Amino acid sequence: MTWHVMLEVVRDGPVPLGAQIADQVRHQVERGLLKPHTRLPSSRQLAQDLRVSRSVVVEAYEKLTGEGLLESVRGSGTRVAAHADTRIRKPVVLVDRAIPPVRFNLLPGTPNPVTFPHREWGASYLRALESTRWQGLGYPPLLGLDQLRTELVAYLGRVRGVLGSPDDTMVTGGFAHALGLVCAALRELGIDRLAVEDPSHDRQRQFIEENDIRTVAVPVGPEGLEIEPLYASGVRVVLVTPSHQFPLGVPMSPQRREELVRWARDIDGWIIEDDYDGGLWLEQRCRHLALQPTGPDRVIYAGTASKLLAPGLRLGWMVLPPELTAVMERVRVRRDLGCDGLMQLAFADFLRSGLLDGHLRKMRTRYRSQHGRLMRAVERYLPVATLVGPVAGLHVFAALPAGLDEEALVTQALQLSVLVKGGRVFHDRPHTARPGLVLGYTALGESGIEEAVRRIGQAYERQPGGVRRAS
Ligand SMILES: Cc1ncc(COP(=O)(O)O)c(C=O)c1O
Repeated sequence: MTWHVMLEVVRDGPVPLGAQIADQVRHQVERGLLKPHTRLPSSRQLAQDLRVSRSVVVEAYEKLTGEGLLESVRGSGTRVAAHADTRIRKPVVLVDRAIPPVRFNLLPGTPNPVTFPHREWGASYLRALESTRWQGLGYPPLLGLDQLRTELVAYLGRVRGVLGSPDDTMVTGGFAHALGLVCAALRELGIDRLAVEDPSHDRQRQFIEENDIRTVAVPVGPEGLEIEPLYASGVRVVLVTPSHQFPLGVPMSPQRREELVRWARDIDGWIIEDDYDGGLWLEQRCRHLALQPTGPDRVIYAGTASKLLAPGLRLGWMVLPPELTAVMERVRVRRDLGCDGLMQLAFADFLRSGLLDGHLRKMRTRYRSQHGRLMRAVERYLPVATLVGPVAGLHVFAALPAGLDEEALVTQALQLSVLVKGGRVFHDRPHTARPGLVLGYTALGESGIEEAVRRIGQAYERQPGGVRRAS
């Protein structure tokens, strides 16, 4: 292996060649350009590159080794010493509040990385790599590679009831990327306001605002988004999570779905469907299909691999109303050059081979028992809580009695080593919202879930008026 570093020497200058090499290496280590453990070229190689005699390089390396900056290891050449960065001063970051170490993480959102199907994904990736001549390596089409769009349409039709064609399907870097593109397309269409559910994902609202679109909060009731206030708001586009409302978990009723699509048709508007954990139903009876088939001409359907596989893949997709496909492509051409081609081929293979189905089958079994354990633990240790929504997805919303200080409960739980997110932050007006907890259950094993909830129960008892739990 030939290693390369950026060094130059000036011949016929006042500084000897060996000293020039030593000075430059020293300088680069001190500036952090050459990191600890970095392998340097062999003395023969560097001498050849710099057109100096080998003894000049050997002398420079020996000098730096003597200073403790380099180390030479038999059989593996010369490297920057492991402790060399201790001479570099790093800025000290001050944390104003000490956060106790957390043993129990109940944050909602991501699958546990230990459940990622490494072997299967690796096999799909390898097949993608072996099968591609140029497709996965050249600039991909903006909508995405044909193979993946074809597989996605087949999968989404089969599993989510989504109606669409590959021509109107766009591969994205996750939902966040899709949402950024949609915001840009809305601006292009002269739209600068977007209705969002109240409650909804707090960071998503910020993201939309940062993309130059004002958000308008519309309340969610027991059947899903309220339609009257939506009409009253005068907006033309709404973002919803109909299958598993985030964070409450309630699915949108069939009647409300019809009303919502009627609203969009009445006002010539659009519905963005965030199907973030689509397909992760855990019981047959709560298998809610997507909203999109109720109004394919009005619904921008968006899905993501973040909950199904891993957020690190940055893989998502949209099925667009045909009327919007051209504007979305126009917007995208100004913003990026498409998604990672090899990743697309790998995911196409993963879908085609039924590996996603197999993985989700396994995950459903795992999540079902974790969810069951969570429900039993809440019943036992936090009986004042009411669990909202069906058995689906990666989190459960626990509504708590009005008047409880949610922030104090979350802080107290943290003192007991449980990291849990309160529900109020998701509301447009947090202080008027009913308190609650969003309980993610993927990071912990079943006994961990039980212990975490037991500690939350303890934290609750320490609140003013916190009633003793049932035994
Ligand atoms: C409501 C909601 N939508 C979408 C996503 C996924 O976003 P992305 O695909 O960008 O990872 C998340 C992830 O936390 C989410 O909570």
